[in-house]
Amino acid sequence: MPLLSLLALAPFDSKAIDARVESLLKRMTLEEKIGQLVQFSDGSATGPEGAQVDQKALVAKGGMGSVLNLTGAKEVNALQRVAVEGSRLKIPLIFGLDVIHGHRTVFPVPLGLSATWDEGLIERTARVAAVEASADGVRWTFSPMVDVARDARWGRIMEGAGEDPWLGGRVAAAYVRGYQTRDLSDPTAIVACAKHYVAYGAAEAGRDYNTVDLSDRVLRDVYLPPFKAAVDAGVGTLMSAFNTVGGVPASANRYTLTDVLRGEWGFRGFVVSDWNSIGELIPHGIALDAEEAAEKGLNAGVDMDMAANAYASKLVGLVKKGRVKQGTVDEATRRVLRVKFALGLFERPYADESRAAREMLSPGHLAVAREAAERSFVLLKNEGAVLPLTPGRRVALIGPLADSADDMLGEWAVRGRKEDVTSLRSAMAERLKGGLLYAKGTEIQTESEAGFAEAVAAAQKADVAVMALGESRFMSGEAFSRTRLDLPGNQRKLLEAVVATGKPVVLVLFNGRPLALPWESAHVSAMLEAWFPGVQAGPALVHTLYGDVAPSGRLTTSFPRAVGQEPLYYNRLNTGRPARTDAIAERFTSGYLDELITPLFPFGHGLTYTRFTYSAPKILTKSIRAADLAKGKTIEVEAVVANVGASAGIETAQLYVAQRGTSVARPIRELKGYERLRIAPGESRRVRFVLRGADLAFTGLDMKRKVEPGELTVWVAPNAEAGAPAKLRILP
Ligand code: NOJ
Repeated sequence: MPLLSLLALAPFDSKAIDARVESLLKRMTLEEKIGQLVQFSDGSATGPEGAQVDQKALVAKGGMGSVLNLTGAKEVNALQRVAVEGSRLKIPLIFGLDVIHGHRTVFPVPLGLSATWDEGLIERTARVAAVEASADGVRWTFSPMVDVARDARWGRIMEGAGEDPWLGGRVAAAYVRGYQTRDLSDPTAIVACAKHYVAYGAAEAGRDYNTVDLSDRVLRDVYLPPFKAAVDAGVGTLMSAFNTVGGVPASANRYTLTDVLRGEWGFRGFVVSDWNSIGELIPHGIALDAEEAAEKGLNAGVDMDMAANAYASKLVGLVKKGRVKQGTVDEATRRVLRVKFALGLFERPYADESRAAREMLSPGHLAVAREAAERSFVLLKNEGAVLPLTPGRRVALIGPLADSADDMLGEWAVRGRKEDVTSLRSAMAERLKGGLLYAKGTEIQTESEAGFAEAVAAAQKADVAVMALGESRFMSGEAFSRTRLDLPGNQRKLLEAVVATGKPVVLVLFNGRPLALPWESAHVSAMLEAWFPGVQAGPALVHTLYGDVAPSGRLTTSFPRAVGQEPLYYNRLNTGRPARTDAIAERFTSGYLDELITPLFPFGHGLTYTRFTYSAPKILTKSIRAADLAKGKTIEVEAVVANVGASAGIETAQLYVAQRGTSVARPIRELKGYERLRIAPGESRRVRFVLRGADLAFTGLDMKRKVEPGELTVWVAPNAEAGAPAKLRILP
């Protein structure tokens, strides 16, 4: 375990905190203990309207331990005062908020941030978010969302780090470090919340809140690892999910919440339900009423009830009837108090009301926002090196997203304001000093073609058309699933009209999910995936389009050719009848009649303004036994990456492995490492990777996680489909 994780774990493992918790617990009544397990929303609702309670009265009698959705140091302090000065035991409230990709300084949406493949940068964005959120009185964020997502129809794919469990774990840990720092009692630290525990990303048909049913092996090897990584990094809280897992709602799932999380991983923080997910045990059909729901939720291991009013109204009675043990309430209360003590809330319950004015959108924060946006862009295609744009070329900027400041914020930007955003149009107009041709062309979703003629005329006057197309900010995120993965409205038609002018077209895409754009990719010269870039959208895009910075983002999610390929992910099993990847409709193979099985743009893909070549990888380890790997021996892999283009660039070299001859079928490839290499033109860099036992372990036939003997294949490659293999036998 890295040293930093050990340090980060310290707040929850401190004997001093445990002693304070025990002494406080002894003085608490049952009602006051249960109060610590209750959370209600103040202000905007981030779920269906629920019970209306008199919050002040509840806080004053110690009946509520946490509030979500209240922001502003003054507002937060006012309610905190009721708890700290007006309640018998003076236990401070913990204020939570969805600070997902920045607070006032809004960063790219998390899927975009993950495309940076830059853990240090992600950590810095989380740090900035924590500094700003804490200045608003918020000491708890419901982030990171670490759900592995393999289905682009699911709107919440935007909130996470894509389809890979290994990368997902690295990204999860980076967020936790950034939010929590090494010392949670630092007033700028906020406690993180890994969500949604667990397997929410596997919702059937990509429909939000839908059923999940998967094997324990897939749960353990695919969906649990990012949560485990967050726990190892010292995350203070987890949120239980809405979905069922094998028929058992995740918010009443003792196996995942207690056996795995507490028993196997030793997690000492607390678990909060998702919004009314305790109440939803009733429509799930495993509880007939709120009383049974509260009983099942707490007994399974959900410590705090968000917004359902089930714990607040039913737990006292349940304890009296003996359906919930006093000890279970004590333990849940302990976990919540531990986090409050670790945050230093007992010493410093109030937010410093002078901080917000200095911290929000500070120049340093905006610089991080611009860097993050620049690094999140993925150059999908660049034919004829149409990018970077050369100065002096006449540009027509066209499309409904070119000047839409609001959409640049992405979905989860609770405190984001469109006035803080610089749009692509305004940044480009500034760069071109009045020489920019602009036409909106159409709306994101409309049938009207009234603006087409103006757009075509602008393109005709220009040397190159830059088209800003895609989804609105509210087409991905919670409850925003789609059955189509095309450009909404008549944007494709507008694009066709502009393409018909014969001018080269650069397509800049804004979206929170992979889109299926085979026609578009065949007919435009360049495609730049921009996600929703945040407040610095315009400057970051202009720098990239003009080559002040070269794109270096890589996809963390496969872009399909057709929606019918979903769920689509690179780390799939081979099947017994693998289809060819270069041809369709071969009889009796696992393919489609009408489409390839491969993505249009694979996981890991991303171009830049120079080109790189890879040597075949070399495995430096000559022979190894499975038992040696378990004991700490490693396998070393090396390759040489050369910049064969004309400019400097960043290449993300990716290490993939596959294992055969094992007790259970393993994916055709799995990411196990990467290295961002900055290489000058004409130069090459040797890159070396170390594979440890933990990297190669998986859940075998006996359900134990370990390394098995077999044939190991490795690739060092620019994406999940490229590269030459090298092999090594892992001996028994
Ligand atoms: C519901 C969402 O699923 C969750 O991600 C969010 O943190 C809560 N609402 C609180 O707003």
